[in-house]
Amino acid sequence: MNLENLCKQVNILAKEVGVYIKSQKIVVADVETKSKNSLVTFVDKTAEAKLVAQLSELIPEAGFIAEEGTSDKIGEVYNWIIDPLDGTTNFIHGVPCYCISIGLKRNNELVLGVIYEINLDELFYAWEGSKAYLNGKEISVTSTPTLEDSLIATGFPYYDYEKQDEYMNLFKDLMRNSRGLRRLGSAAVDLAYVACGRFDAFYEYSLHPWDVAAGAFIVQQAGGKVCDFKGENDYLFGKEIITCNPHIQQELLAKVKLHFK
Ligand code: IPD
Ligand code: CA
Ligand code: CA
Repeated sequence: MNLENLCKQVNILAKEVGVYIKSQKIVVADVETKSKNSLVTFVDKTAEAKLVAQLSELIPEAGFIAEEGTSDKIGEVYNWIIDPLDGTTNFIHGVPCYCISIGLKRNNELVLGVIYEINLDELFYAWEGSKAYLNGKEISVTSTPTLEDSLIATGFPYYDYEKQDEYMNLFKDLMRNSRGLRRLGSAAVDLAYVACGRFDAFYEYSLHPWDVAAGAFIVQQAGGKVCDFKGENDYLFGKEIITCNPHIQQELLAKVKLHFK
């Protein structure tokens, strides 16, 4: 399989679906609640249906892990991991930060990632063996040597409060020992921003594979590190992710381990 060509096709598709999402207006009656603070609209579902239909043509044997459950097909080798609209709460409230996130897994390995940030028309992508790119230009993570000089993104717990105290203690620690913290409301955009060096790091718990698959892959192709809260590799299905430039990984991981015992 030629992953570079495939990535080009996925890029075109992400932009097409992005145009659809941008053209849609939401009213209050369009908002459904899946579970506490987990919102969805017809736009999320329609976007996912469009992605699944087109991606099925690109690799007919591939399966899907897709947030809105459009397809339950499991691929023996290839599986697309899709969030058709990451940042749905922003989208509903008219806050211009949301994206489409498409990852591809071959067996247990991520081999392609595409994130399209719709409002800024920014396409982040990479494929196995490639560099990482933003709108055709090579990108890389920062080389900031210390947490003290780092700008760090995170996502606040909004339905799973079990580790809220641990989260807040880490947050307080980083607030005093970094350049600052940001919460954009789209984990995939957070990851893309680590890949292109806008953020030095990002961490969050209770994320799903579709939130992180594409972004975790792009960050690594951009020279960054990705791990779970133990410093291990279970970040795709393990619901905990830390990602950053290589220089600050041990310092950040030590802080996460200190508070999440
Ligand atoms: C959410 C966003 C948000 C993160 C949540 C995700 P959704 O995805 O990525 O930044 O904090 O954990 O669920 O629901 O907008 O696709
Ligand atoms: Ca998401
Ligand atoms: Ca979503």
